[in-house]
Amino acid sequence: MKLTTSPILLISSLGLCAGIVSGVHLNTARSPNAQPKRKTSMLIDPPALPDLPTITAAKAAASAFDLNLTDIQGDILIGMKKKKELFFFFSISNATDFKAKLKSTILPLVTNTAQLLDVAQQPQTALNIGFSQRGLLALNITDELNDSAFSGGQLQDISSLGDPGTTNWVPEFVAGHIHGVILLASDTVDNINSTLSGLQSKLGTSITEIYSLQGAARPGSEEGHEHFGYLDGISNPAVEGFQSPLPGQAVVPTGEILVGENGDAGIDNRPSWAKDGSFLVFRQLQQLVPEFNKFLTDNPIRAPALTPKQGSELLGARMIGRWKSGAPVFLAPLVDNPALGADPTRNNDFTYGAPGQTTGKANATDQSKCPFSAHIRKTRPRADLGLPESSSSNHHIVRGGIPYGPEVTGNEATSNTTNIERGLAFGSNTNLSLFKHRMLMLHDLVCYQSSIAAGFQFLQQKWADNTKFIHAGVGFDPIIGAAQGAQRAVTGLDLTNPSRSITLTTDFVVSRGGEYFFSPSLSAIANTLSV
Ligand SMILES: *[C@@H]1O[C@H](CO)[C@@H](O)[C@H](O)[C@H]1NC(C)=O
Ligand SMILES: *[C@@H]1O[C@H](CO)[C@@H](O)[C@H](O)[C@H]1NC(C)=O
Ligand SMILES: *[C@@H]1O[C@H](CO)[C@@H](O)[C@H](O)[C@H]1NC(C)=O
Ligand SMILES: *[C@@H]1O[C@H](CO)[C@@H](O)[C@H](O)[C@H]1NC(C)=O
Ligand SMILES: *[C@@H]1O[C@H](CO)[C@@H](O)[C@H](O)[C@H]1NC(C)=O
Ligand SMILES: *[C@@H]1O[C@H](CO)[C@@H](O)[C@H](O)[C@H]1NC(C)=O
Ligand SMILES: *[C@@H]1O[C@H](CO)[C@@H](O)[C@H](O)[C@H]1NC(C)=O
Ligand SMILES: *[C@@H]1O[C@H](CO)[C@@H](O)[C@H](O)[C@H]1NC(C)=O
Repeated sequence: MKLTTSPILLISSLGLCAGIVSGVHLNTARSPNAQPKRKTSMLIDPPALPDLPTITAAKAAASAFDLNLTDIQGDILIGMKKKKELFFFFSISNATDFKAKLKSTILPLVTNTAQLLDVAQQPQTALNIGFSQRGLLALNITDELNDSAFSGGQLQDISSLGDPGTTNWVPEFVAGHIHGVILLASDTVDNINSTLSGLQSKLGTSITEIYSLQGAARPGSEEGHEHFGYLDGISNPAVEGFQSPLPGQAVVPTGEILVGENGDAGIDNRPSWAKDGSFLVFRQLQQLVPEFNKFLTDNPIRAPALTPKQGSELLGARMIGRWKSGAPVFLAPLVDNPALGADPTRNNDFTYGAPGQTTGKANATDQSKCPFSAHIRKTRPRADLGLPESSSSNHHIVRGGIPYGPEVTGNEATSNTTNIERGLAFGSNTNLSLFKHRMLMLHDLVCYQSSIAAGFQFLQQKWADNTKFIHAGVGFDPIIGAAQGAQRAVTGLDLTNPSRSITLTTDFVVSRGGEYFFSPSLSAIANTLSV
């Protein structure tokens, strides 16, 4: 989903690069696996998005919750703050050999949470790793993690997630050979490439590459925005034991994201080594940007005092629930308010309730300021489920995705069609080598949770795809809602006639499939997975 998410939208970011020493020095540093240290952060920090905690603040928060930040892989709590990120999917060819190298070669490179928060401790390229159920079995790990979605694999969920069969899936996600994924993040693709080639030469024939995907934050002023143009990542929750919330930010118990911590509903049924790991959902989502833009152009909201262009912008903002600046339509109902969008203390500070309302539910018939179907409202209903919010929802995820693919070309924009040059309507092609050469606007969804059923699956199935949520007649989430390829009806978009149903004949976000992984703690890698 790209949007799927808990907010959902996807996102990205920006990083500084200065005085970067390339990974060529990988093998010449002091200890065999040490990478040269950084002077500037590899992470991005768009001012409109919640800041990461300082290392001092995070350590204090962690200590109050007895959380070991050096044992938790860095990507889980950090979210979408990557400049460049490579997803490298592999199968294990020789388990004995791989286990030895997992300990000697990979583990020393696994970047933990404390390291990422402290620039002086950041490597040139951060590395995280996750394993599919097949991968754990290949390593002879037969303990049941007790997450049935994970054990079944994502392909098994294809219908229930609303995907129209495997037609659009990347063939490698269908074939069933993926044992794990290595995530490499840095501020340059050069760093990532040299880390990967160093790694591959050491891992030798113990693994086989299945598929890889390079992501990057969008350029210039679009940094932090997903491919449709909307600022993304504002609604990621604050996790207890890690960071303090900004006004309006959801606070989630540690165990909603980390297995075996307080708030993990499955805590009594996990093997002890799974503690402080998290389930990683990977989805590759294509965004049909020119098609989306044409839909907005062709269907402006005709409110008094709005030009057609403003009416089109309003339609897009009501589909998302935010303007491109990040300003929520609930607080800026008719035109964008860039100052509001840029202020992280205000851009998430609303509930859909009346001013000052602290208990009870939002008005069940008022869509004047924000449609019930809006993407961010469907995936985080706030007062629609009743206030205070924390008592009404345990369906949170931490989103860690990044955009993929080049900017829309002039030709695509003019033709209103993604990649018209090849004449391929996305959706009919399963030839990977063609995909690799097409100009795709891709976005992935990466998210973490302690239960795939309560996290990703719930948000997609019970909220985004449920036409009766939050009220009868609401229809689909117009962005990520999926109906196995069928047309989707949505209400509430036209504020002059909220009951008007608009039929979307195109899925602007197309699922290319993915897989479920478990991202173990560093101690689990050391003491269980590599022995
Ligand atoms: C925290 O985790 C690290 C990495 O696994 C480990 O070396 C360290 O002993 C742990 N600290 C505590 C207090 O358990
Ligand atoms: C996995 O278990 C099988 C059966 O006990 C054994 O033959 C094999 O060597 C084990 N593989 C590894 C990598 O430990
Ligand atoms: C697997 O790796 C081990 C350790 O490197 C090696 O001894 C063994 O011959 C390899 N097995 C196969 C089938 O290549
Ligand atoms: C990184 O590696 C990929 C795959 O080998 C290659 O296509 C790309 O050009 C490389 N990029 C850089 C900046 O070296
Ligand atoms: C998994 O959890 C359920 C309850 O949520 C429990 O009934 C079942 O026994 C557990 N399975 C294992 C292998 O622990
Ligand atoms: C709820 O919203 C509707 C539609 O805007 C309005 O007519 C009604 O008065 C509102 N109810 C309350 C209690 O504010
Ligand atoms: C693209 O869509 C716009 C808006 O509907 C339309 O005016 C234009 O003619 C379309 N271009 C082509 C080549 O179809
Ligand atoms: C996939 O597309 C490539 C590039 O056009 C082509 O060379 C190859 O034959 C195609 N493979 C199949 C199975 O159609």
